[in-house]
Amino acid sequence: MAATETAAMGSATAQPGWSSRTAFVLAAIGAAVGLGNVWRFPTLAGESGGGAFVIFYVACVVLIGLPLILSEVMIGRAGNTDAVGSIRKISELSGSNPRWKYFGVIGVVAAFLILSFYSVVAGWVVYYIGVMGADLVANLGNGDLFGGALQAETTAQVQGRMGALFENVELLITMHLIFMGITLWVVSRGVTEGIEKAATYLMPTFFVLLIGITIYGGIVGDMGEALRFMFSPDFSKLTPQVMNTALGQAFFSLSLGVAGLITYGSYVSRDTPLGTTSGMIAFADTAVALIAGLMIFPIVFAVGLDPAAGPTLVFQSLPIAFQQMPAGSVVGFLFFVLIFFAALTSSISLLEVPTAWGIGEMGWSRRTSSLVFGGGAFVVGIACLLSLNVWSDFKPLAFWPIFEDLAIMDALDGFTGKVMLPLGALLTSIFVGWIADRKLVRAESGLGSSMFGVWRFLIAWLCPIAVTLILVFGLFPGLIG
Ligand code: PHE
Repeated sequence: MAATETAAMGSATAQPGWSSRTAFVLAAIGAAVGLGNVWRFPTLAGESGGGAFVIFYVACVVLIGLPLILSEVMIGRAGNTDAVGSIRKISELSGSNPRWKYFGVIGVVAAFLILSFYSVVAGWVVYYIGVMGADLVANLGNGDLFGGALQAETTAQVQGRMGALFENVELLITMHLIFMGITLWVVSRGVTEGIEKAATYLMPTFFVLLIGITIYGGIVGDMGEALRFMFSPDFSKLTPQVMNTALGQAFFSLSLGVAGLITYGSYVSRDTPLGTTSGMIAFADTAVALIAGLMIFPIVFAVGLDPAAGPTLVFQSLPIAFQQMPAGSVVGFLFFVLIFFAALTSSISLLEVPTAWGIGEMGWSRRTSSLVFGGGAFVVGIACLLSLNVWSDFKPLAFWPIFEDLAIMDALDGFTGKVMLPLGALLTSIFVGWIADRKLVRAESGLGSSMFGVWRFLIAWLCPIAVTLILVFGLFPGLIG
């Protein structure tokens, strides 16, 4: 039944759609490529000791991430409405319990929560664009194009900027507001006029900058050391914690488990081949994460900085490096523009998930819905940024050993990444592998019979088992002594 029937059901809702397959691919890659690739991935790879983490991460993407991308896009396209509605529709067509739709709700809530702290971090990027931009303009005025960044400051002053920013509540709020405002503006313009346009302009520019700065890092930095660091594995470092982190990072980076690809999938036309398209998304996202490592670590090693600096790696260590490098002023500015573009196309997708839910389930207009959720995430974001300063002693998850030391922002990051995304992904795999009607799934996936067999094995068996194991051992490390 299914294929034509679902398509017919969907068209009655006058769902908007991407204007071309390329538009969808760019928007989906834009959603996937973000702070997760250029900030979180190098940070985690650095903290987790490099090679073994990277290899395990890539395995997670191929074996678990890729089948899930296809599943999410498929659910969205078959349901042809917001995430919750799409899951409900497929449950109905499959004669299964409509309560499955609640895993869509987990996704919508997770997207909203991630957006709130995502925008705060992206606000730091906006701040550094301002700092580096002003420096660049001054250098251009002096005709000093090839000089290092922030020459007028001592290294200690450059290093101190991040701490000073974290203490400055008004500045943090302003930057967060600017970023959320731009995100909201794009989403309120709609799928073709807003989301798709943003991706079509920003993503190609992003790729040019990424390649350009990586080549620059290869020339002036220490590429050999970076390659060794990223690809020579020490498997003794692969603890259950590190595995949990890597899997959570794969989900975060591929935008899985938050119904993001269900939502974007609902705008996909019926003639788009889902298998190859999913492969392109996974490949591009992973390539960007690896290239981002090869962009950042050569620069970090060239000036003898610590690759395991943690979340400050990009915001504190790199400006110091740009200060000491030729043309650091120009490259430093472009570097933060690159991160900004990546972050914006991702925050747009994060806001689109609850916005589509408000439109589909509450009957709100796009304007109202995006304003409600964008505004709401802005407010939650303020709680996050206050946890960097005045509320730094408040530990909301103090009762939970692995999260006990975290202030609001890190707790939200940890809880969404380590609990909500894996849970969303787990439920997606069970739903697609076991609950949804097998014939419907097969027709909607568009896969040939042998590919379908492989995919079904991964989604019905490997995904649920692996995700459950990693979830359990990662969250309760005591279990294995
Ligand atoms: N994938 C994005 C990144 O890597 C973050 C994101 C997560 C976006 C979930 C949408 C949904 O930065």
